[in-house]
Amino acid sequence: MSTHVDVTRSAALYERALRVLPGGVSRNAALNDPHPLYVDRGEGCRLTDVEGVTRIDFANNMASLIHGHADPDMVHMVTEQLRRGTAFNVATEIEIRCAEHLRLRNAGFEKMRFVNSGTEALMVGVKVARAFTGRPMIAKAEGAYHGGYDYLEVSQVSTPANWGSPDEPNRVPLVRGTPQSAVDEVVVVPFNNIDGTIALLDRVKDKLACVVMDLMPHRIGLNPADPAYIAAIRDWTTRHGALLLIDEVITFRACYGGLQQQYGVSPDLTALGKMIGGGFPIGAIAGRAEVMDVLNPRSPRYVFPHSGTFSANPISVGAGLSAMEKFDRPAVDRLNALARGAITRIEEIIRKTGISASVTGSGSMFRVHLKATAPRNYREAYLSPAENKRLQALLGHMFDERIILINSCSAALSTPMTEHDIDTLVAAFRTGFEKLVAMG
Ligand SMILES: Cc1ncc(COP(=O)(O)O)c(C=O)c1O
Repeated sequence: MSTHVDVTRSAALYERALRVLPGGVSRNAALNDPHPLYVDRGEGCRLTDVEGVTRIDFANNMASLIHGHADPDMVHMVTEQLRRGTAFNVATEIEIRCAEHLRLRNAGFEKMRFVNSGTEALMVGVKVARAFTGRPMIAKAEGAYHGGYDYLEVSQVSTPANWGSPDEPNRVPLVRGTPQSAVDEVVVVPFNNIDGTIALLDRVKDKLACVVMDLMPHRIGLNPADPAYIAAIRDWTTRHGALLLIDEVITFRACYGGLQQQYGVSPDLTALGKMIGGGFPIGAIAGRAEVMDVLNPRSPRYVFPHSGTFSANPISVGAGLSAMEKFDRPAVDRLNALARGAITRIEEIIRKTGISASVTGSGSMFRVHLKATAPRNYREAYLSPAENKRLQALLGHMFDERIILINSCSAALSTPMTEHDIDTLVAAFRTGFEKLVAMG
């Protein structure tokens, strides 16, 4: 946190927060030393805190704000909808329009259901897969983050002390008290390791409902999966009657219809969230009509009664539709080009400063690693205490330089950003790397 500004108001807010919120926050990502940043307002790609300091926001609420803060089109759409009502237990046209638009972007989204978060989308997706196949088990990659559903939390933050063999990672529950029965229903596969993954899937082939995969898992290093790895899993699931559920909660922004289009892979189900809500809470599970029919009370396939008070909330789907329409193909291409340029320039200063670092990412996101070789799986991306200390020093420097990054040292660009903002980012990385090199 900056030492150059008066932090009295933030410190006072934190003191109050500690009395009513565990740890003083409602999400751990907001924690910072000596206290969280308290925002006053956001506009475009800038965020101003309660001390009056303005920073460029490369976190964009964990990659969910594709158009930055208070986008005028989103504000207009939501203001109109606020006047007409915010939640109904009857249907709306806007949810149909939002679903139609998403299907235009990706023909594989034959049917979809809107929910309230990425977590919920993944949870409903897993249950749809179980309901369709009649099988209980799921597979997920070691270290992958798919939100807060018990099964999907397994081995989310394994450590060298408990992660076991690289070819057969241990199943490590995230939260104390997680039922062992839930942990036992999960196969944890080694990301990007075809032989290891297929061998583990083979062992449970008659029990597996689905493989859940993120094509560029942020926690595993934001490194795109090898196309051959994804093709092998698609092939295996098709041959063994299991479903492939791709988590595009973050990666949907990478291509017009999601990162899956770049891979040429057709999953049975796709989980969406973040960006498709235009800055409001949302999730969606989309996929093959035959599979999604397990949710359809009018279908003979109906086996999954599903409901949700705020599902397809008109504010979220309205803002989401507006955000998506504005994030058209030229906008996707422009943002991806901006990110590519930033990556090239950061790689250049890595070479020039001689720091041991690398950059991963694709689409409009990237992540800087203080590791000479870009990690390809969770274990390679894992930070030792010494590496973590250096990363925290770099993040502190960036913050002082008025740059907000995701706390893994990742950036998610937003459409209001320009080359000028990238210049500022690159200059801050340059001085940050120089400091680290001088520290030794
Ligand atoms: C890849 C991925 N899946 C799922 C989720 C969960 O989404 P939410 O936080 O909306 O529940 C996240 C959130 O960061 C995510 O990054």
